[in-house]
Amino acid sequence: MQDSILVTGGAGYIGSHTVRLLASQGFRIVVLDNLVFGHEGAIVDEGVELVRGDVGDKKLLEKLFSEHGFSAVVHFAAYAYVGESVTDPLKYYRNNTAEPLTLLEVMQAHGCRSFVFSSTCATYGVPESVPIRETNPQDPINPYGRSKLMVEWILRDCEHAWGLKSACLRYFNASGSSEDGKIGEDHDPETHLIPRVLMALTGEIPHVDVFGTDYPTPDGTCIRDYIHVDDLADAHFRALEHLMKGGDSVRCNLGTGVGVSVKEIIQAAEEVTGRKVPVKYGERRAGDPPALLADPWLAKEVLGWEARRKDVRDMVRTAWKWMNGPNHGRFDA
Ligand SMILES: NC(=O)c1ccc[n+]([C@@H]2O[C@H](COP(=O)([O-])OP(=O)(O)OC[C@H]3O[C@@H](n4cnc5c(N)ncnc54)[C@H](O)[C@@H]3O)[C@@H](O)[C@H]2O)c1
Repeated sequence: MQDSILVTGGAGYIGSHTVRLLASQGFRIVVLDNLVFGHEGAIVDEGVELVRGDVGDKKLLEKLFSEHGFSAVVHFAAYAYVGESVTDPLKYYRNNTAEPLTLLEVMQAHGCRSFVFSSTCATYGVPESVPIRETNPQDPINPYGRSKLMVEWILRDCEHAWGLKSACLRYFNASGSSEDGKIGEDHDPETHLIPRVLMALTGEIPHVDVFGTDYPTPDGTCIRDYIHVDDLADAHFRALEHLMKGGDSVRCNLGTGVGVSVKEIIQAAEEVTGRKVPVKYGERRAGDPPALLADPWLAKEVLGWEARRKDVRDMVRTAWKWMNGPNHGRFDA
C-alpha cells in the first residue's frame, strides 16, 4: 500500500516540482491549493488529485484526512511577497501563521505526525556572518520572515505536546525549472531576479532594475544563493523519508553554498541566450542585506542531501527553456 501525502500549495512553483518527484517515487499525492497563486496546469501527473480549497478550511481537511489517511503533510501554501507583508502584515500572519494551526489541529486529531515545512532564509534577517549556519540567530526583519519563524516555533511546541516530527527547510533563492520545460516559475507579479532578467530579454518588461551597485561585494551588487527547484524537490523527498522512517525533527538550510551576484546573473543570462539584457542601475533598496549565503552542511549530515546543480547558468538555462516552452503563460488557458 502506497503512502498518501497531502501537499498544500502543490500547484505553486516549488510545490509542483516536488509533487512531480514524489509521484514518480510512488507516493499517492493529494494537492490542496486555493489557486490564488497556483495553477491547475502545473499538476502534470494524471495520478495526482488536485483539491481546490484552503488550508484554513477545517471541514474540508477533516474530509480529506478521513478519506486518505495521510502519512505526512508537505506544507508549501503561503504568501511570499516580502514588500506586501510590510504593508499588509495581518494578511501574512493570517495566511502563513494562523491557517496552518487548523491544519495542525486536524493532523493531531488524525494521528498524522510528520510535517515538512517551507521555511526560509528570511527567518535569519540580516546575518551576523555568512555563510549562514543553522546556529546563526534568527531575527527576521519583515512580517513575512516572522510569519514563517512563528510556524517553526509552533512546530517545536507541537512536538513537545503530541510528538509531531517536522522538517523545517529554510530555502534560499529558488530558481530554474524542470529539465523538460513542462513546468516552471509562473508568479504574478513576478519579483524574482532570474525570471525578471529573462522577462527583460523577451521584452515583457522594458528592463531589469538593479538596486545598488555600491555594496561591499566584489562587483558592488548583492550576492544571493540560488538553489535549483529540482534540488529543492529532492530535499523534500529526503526529508519526508527521514521523518516517515522515524527520524528526528530537523531545521536546516537548503542552498548551494555558492554566492552569486546580481551582475553575475545578468552575465549568465547573456551567455545562455546570446542576447544583451537591458538593465537600469539604481539606488539600494531598504532591507536588502549585501550577501545571503547558506552553509548547507546540516542537510547533508542529516538528510544526505546536497545540491547537485551549483552552476547558476544551469538555473538560467532551465528557466529560459521553460519560458520558451509550450506551457509558459498557458497554465490557466
Ligand atoms: N520561491 C522562493 O524562492 C522561496 C524561498 C523561501 C521560501 N519559500 C516558501 O516556499 C513556499 C512555496 O513558494 P513558491 O515560490 O512555490 O510560491 P507559490 O506562490 O508559487 O506557491 C504557493 C502556493 O500556495 C497556494 N496557497 C497560498 N495560500 C494558500 C492557502 N491558504 N490555502 C491553500 N493554498 C494556498 C498558492 O495558490 C500557491 O499555489 C512558500 O511557503 C514560500 O514562502 C519560497
